[in-house]
Amino acid sequence: MTQNLKGIASGIASDVTGKRILITGGASGIGAASALLLATRGAKVVIGDMAEEMGEAVAKQGQDAGNSIVFKKVDVTSGDEVRALFAFAMEALGGLDVVINNAGIDHKPAPMHELSDEDFDRNIAVNLKGIWHCMRAAIGCMATNGGGHVINVASIAGLRSAPLISAYSAAKHGVMGLTKSAAHEYARVNIRFNAVCPSFIDTPMVRHTMANMNERAQQATIKASPLRRLGEVDEVSGAIAWLASDESSFMNGHAFTLDGGMLA
Ligand SMILES: NC(=O)c1ccc[n+]([C@@H]2O[C@H](COP(=O)([O-])OP(=O)(O)OC[C@H]3O[C@@H](n4cnc5c(N)ncnc54)[C@H](O)[C@@H]3O)[C@@H](O)[C@H]2O)c1
Repeated sequence: MTQNLKGIASGIASDVTGKRILITGGASGIGAASALLLATRGAKVVIGDMAEEMGEAVAKQGQDAGNSIVFKKVDVTSGDEVRALFAFAMEALGGLDVVINNAGIDHKPAPMHELSDEDFDRNIAVNLKGIWHCMRAAIGCMATNGGGHVINVASIAGLRSAPLISAYSAAKHGVMGLTKSAAHEYARVNIRFNAVCPSFIDTPMVRHTMANMNERAQQATIKASPLRRLGEVDEVSGAIAWLASDESSFMNGHAFTLDGGMLA
């Protein structure tokens, strides 16, 4: 039997050298950790985020370490701003191999009947429509450079119930629908779509959500996984780096859970 052993001798974990990568929400948490890891491993990275000061600081940290990483301000709820971000990335990087749609927000935990219109609408606008804006732009760019890989940061809240954060859960279920549908639609032009579905990861977003909980709910959140702790951002960025590498080349339309066994 003939086997394709291409790459086995490279000896580099999740080789992303030279990959042209755009990541949204790269100013904080999972996005910042992923942007810095990818740049450290030789990718050329553009960060898009609405938090300008923090985004510039992440880019500077990467640049000071000698890596290729730049920041561009964007609000993913605006189709026009997303188009401008992708035009910037195409110009700066000369093409796009990987797009990581990670920008997202939480909302104040509340039973469904007490959720405000504002919280519901904002969650759908950022966590669902924002991802769709970026997927649409990514498809246009990648179709011109022979294909690529879109990685959507969803959540286990997109795979199962998420009591008290139902608008967030609805948006993340929507992201799974977009991911799976696009995986079928664009395989013919060599664009893959996968989702990363973390459980509770120790980031500013989760700390913000937990600040709105009582002590009992906080402990339940921390101990929700069989590992009985929150995940660390590095435990997500490492998986994202693997996905961004060619090692994930036969994965398409998949929900990659990083949940310490919560859904097992
Ligand atoms: N932390 C977790 O436990 C967890 C679990 C599952 C999924 N996620 C998802 O991971 C992603 C990253 O979350 P995080 O925990 O690192 O949060 P975070 O708050 O640390 O980072 C989110 C980033 O998104 C940016 N952002 C928010 N709205 C934006 C907008 N409209 N336009 C552009 N940028 C915007 C913020 O400025 C911030 O830099 C989110 O999509 C989140 O839903 C997080």
